[in-house]
Amino acid sequence: MPNQLWKGWVIYMVITAYLSEEKATTQVCPSCDATHFCDCSSMNMSTIPSGLTTDITGLNLSYNSIKYVRETDLLVGVNLRVLLLQFNQIWTIDKESFIFLGKLEHLDLSNNKLTHLSPIWFRHLFSLQHLNIQGNLYTTLGENPLFSNLKNLRYLHLGNNNSFSAIWKQDFDGITVLEQLVIDGQRLRQYESGSLTTVNSINHIIININDVQVLSVMLEDLINSAICVELRNIAFNTANESSLLEPMSRSVMEKLVLKNVLFTDASVIRVLNILVHAEQLLELELDNSILQGMGHWPEPIKIKRKSPMEVVTIQRLTIEKFYLFSDLSSLKNLVGNITKITVVNTKVFLVPCSISKHFSSLLYLDLSENLLADPNLEHSSCKGAWPLLQTFNLSQNTLGDLQMTGQSLSHLKHLTHLDISQNNFGEIPESCQWPENLKYLNISGTQIPKLTTCIPQTLEVLDVSSNNLNDFRLKLPRLKELYVAKNKLKTLPDAPFIPNLVALRISRNKLTSFSKEEFGSFRKMETLDAGDNNFICSCEFLSFIQYQEGIANVLANWPENYICDSPSPVRGQQVKAARLSLFECHRTLAVSLICILVVLVILLIVILGYKLHVIWYMKMTWAWLQAKRKPKKSHNHDFCYDAFVSYSERDSEWVENLMVQELENAIPPFKLCLHKRDFVPGKWIIDNIIDSIEKSHKTLFVLSEHFVQSEWCKYELEFSHFRLFDEHNDAAILILLEPIQEQTIPKRFCKLRKIMNTKTYLEWPLDEGQQQIFWFNLKIALKY
Ligand SMILES: *[C@@H]1O[C@H](CO)[C@@H](O)[C@H](O)[C@H]1NC(C)=O
Ligand SMILES: *[C@@H]1O[C@H](CO)[C@@H](O)[C@H](O)[C@H]1NC(C)=O
Ligand SMILES: *[C@@H]1O[C@H](CO)[C@@H](O)[C@H](O)[C@H]1NC(C)=O
Ligand SMILES: *[C@@H]1O[C@H](CO)[C@@H](O)[C@H](O)[C@H]1NC(C)=O
Ligand SMILES: *[C@@H]1O[C@H](CO)[C@@H](O)[C@H](O)[C@H]1NC(C)=O
Ligand SMILES: *[C@@H]1O[C@H](CO)[C@@H](O)[C@H](O)[C@H]1NC(C)=O
Ligand SMILES: *[C@@H]1O[C@H](CO)[C@@H](O)[C@H](O)[C@H]1NC(C)=O
Repeated sequence: MPNQLWKGWVIYMVITAYLSEEKATTQVCPSCDATHFCDCSSMNMSTIPSGLTTDITGLNLSYNSIKYVRETDLLVGVNLRVLLLQFNQIWTIDKESFIFLGKLEHLDLSNNKLTHLSPIWFRHLFSLQHLNIQGNLYTTLGENPLFSNLKNLRYLHLGNNNSFSAIWKQDFDGITVLEQLVIDGQRLRQYESGSLTTVNSINHIIININDVQVLSVMLEDLINSAICVELRNIAFNTANESSLLEPMSRSVMEKLVLKNVLFTDASVIRVLNILVHAEQLLELELDNSILQGMGHWPEPIKIKRKSPMEVVTIQRLTIEKFYLFSDLSSLKNLVGNITKITVVNTKVFLVPCSISKHFSSLLYLDLSENLLADPNLEHSSCKGAWPLLQTFNLSQNTLGDLQMTGQSLSHLKHLTHLDISQNNFGEIPESCQWPENLKYLNISGTQIPKLTTCIPQTLEVLDVSSNNLNDFRLKLPRLKELYVAKNKLKTLPDAPFIPNLVALRISRNKLTSFSKEEFGSFRKMETLDAGDNNFICSCEFLSFIQYQEGIANVLANWPENYICDSPSPVRGQQVKAARLSLFECHRTLAVSLICILVVLVILLIVILGYKLHVIWYMKMTWAWLQAKRKPKKSHNHDFCYDAFVSYSERDSEWVENLMVQELENAIPPFKLCLHKRDFVPGKWIIDNIIDSIEKSHKTLFVLSEHFVQSEWCKYELEFSHFRLFDEHNDAAILILLEPIQEQTIPKRFCKLRKIMNTKTYLEWPLDEGQQQIFWFNLKIALKY
């Protein structure tokens, strides 16, 4: 041995040196996870990739096309614990290939092309626990014991359906305890008696062979070791074939599983006769099997002593002529001590009352996926039937009348769990009878449109999911768990009706939201699954659910299943992450604020406009624009008036009575233009003014305090147009009727201020003597 190791070591050194140079060009397995488990499956590799490192703990090379495992391939596998090579083309393995895999625990070589097996491969696999060599091409396990060095082997899968033909006595040498042993051998014809006796204990053996004779010898060897025996793909056609199972009646076997097995009327009764005498057999399971026959069983079941069998499970049993099947009365004596029966998907449409009555110990009965209808259930569950029954599963049958179903079962005093889901009840009546201690009721998927007081008040768990409910308004004081998923509920149920609720599943309904109060009213709630609803993510809802403390511990599938449906900005987002803007959250407030703001701004503009005489400026701008558009008249046009008089209404007395008299009666008379008298009616006043000024030689301003305040505004702008007060233009004449304080002139009349400062003006004297001089001066001014 040390010599071998030494040799291996030298090879290892040489090869690693060689590999380190080659590394760059060789295949490297790409995906290794944090635990150094590398998945190189399904990559069309033709060899084990080189470039592996010593830290690899697992290597999945399944589904490639590796043909050959070489000595050098796994040199670095010193830390390898899992090596999966199934579904390759491996036909040979070098003797020293696994020499360094001292830590390997799981080796899968199944579904390859190995024609011979060599114990040398496994010599160093001291830690190996799982070994799978199923589905290869070998005919036997070899001449020398294959597994004798595998002291830790617990799971062993071997054999194949095409060529494996014999098992010899030394094959299992060295194995004493197995957790699981799988033997495939649809072609196995030779089994040397005693081959499996070396194994002291096998927890679960799966035997896939079809030769009943061989099976019989094998079972004899397993009498003292196999706890659970599973037989697959075998046919028992005659009573004599069944008799070969005789060793079972003396076995320590506790559970028998039959998968894909064929029985006839003749063989099944033999098998049953053997099994009722198996001293330790507690559980019988029959899956996906066929019974050819009609229940006309020739010999009765003879019971010599107590059968411990308690659990019977039958799934997918095909009884080809099930409609002709007889009443099974021969089973009567067999069933008395059975506590648990499952008969699923087997076209059961009736359990005769006479049989039901014999199930005197039955606690659990699962008849789901069968053909029971209400009248037959009533017959099956006759008075005295199943007196101790606690759990009854009638899911997926053809029940259609909830009242009748309840009535049929109401005599079952111990029944606490009833599953009648996936039947077709439709509308349900107002009152029903139920077993008095019913705690769990499953009526999901039964087309119920509305719940009524038919539902018993004793319930602690109620499943009404997948119906057509619009609301939930039932008073169920003891209810702890309520399942109403896949209905059309728009709100949470009312908490006061179900005060003790601990768990609620209301996913896939039409729930749009729920409030803090609604949520809080379930005082004992520990789990709430409200996912997959169309949540309206209002601000109240978001602010409640996002900031509620500990909500993540209560909501199931939070946050991934809670998605906002509206409003549109957050549609499709998780409720947990959705954010609404301040505006969306306080819309009314925002709108009122904006209104108030607008009103304030308008008010401000109005006030400012008034304060700053904006209207006036605008009018002036308008007038100015109008004037600009008019063709400029030439200087030497015809004048109609000597002077245009501009005055304030207050001063009209003086103007009209004194000045007009004086000037128009003078010799020669002056022709004056007065707005009262000469303005064209209907024209805008400013236009009139402009016209008049244009048609007059001079413009006479009768200034007074009042004129400045009320009339001047009409002229201020005009002066820039007519240049009335330019230095070389003396077309404007100012008459000061009363003294005007300069500070009383508004600031915006900058022209007037300037004029008052620069121009000389005629002052109206109060002294009558001086008035003649005034008139004289005025006439002179008008003339030139
Ligand atoms: C190995 O790969 C196969 C094929 O991809 C996959 O089915 C199997 O689960 C993998 N095994 C492990 C342990 O990852
Ligand atoms: C696998 O590799 C072989 C050659 O090694 C090639 O012919 C074949 O097409 C490959 N298959 C796939 C699925 O890549
Ligand atoms: C052997 O055949 C049975 C069906 O007869 C099948 O379930 C089983 O997987 C086969 N075993 C192998 C290794 O192919
Ligand atoms: C069954 O076995 C008995 C003897 O054990 C034999 O007499 C009988 O002929 C057999 N029946 C059939 C149908 O092979
Ligand atoms: C059921 O158990 C009782 C005693 O516990 C025993 O007398 C009776 O034979 C048993 N019945 C069957 C069918 O095994
Ligand atoms: C009843 O049977 C159905 C279908 O086989 C299964 O889904 C359900 O869990 C069972 N109910 C109980 C209470 O065991
Ligand atoms: C009710 O029955 C349905 C279908 O048979 C099943 O999926 C569901 O898990 C059951 N409910 C409960 C609460 O066990």
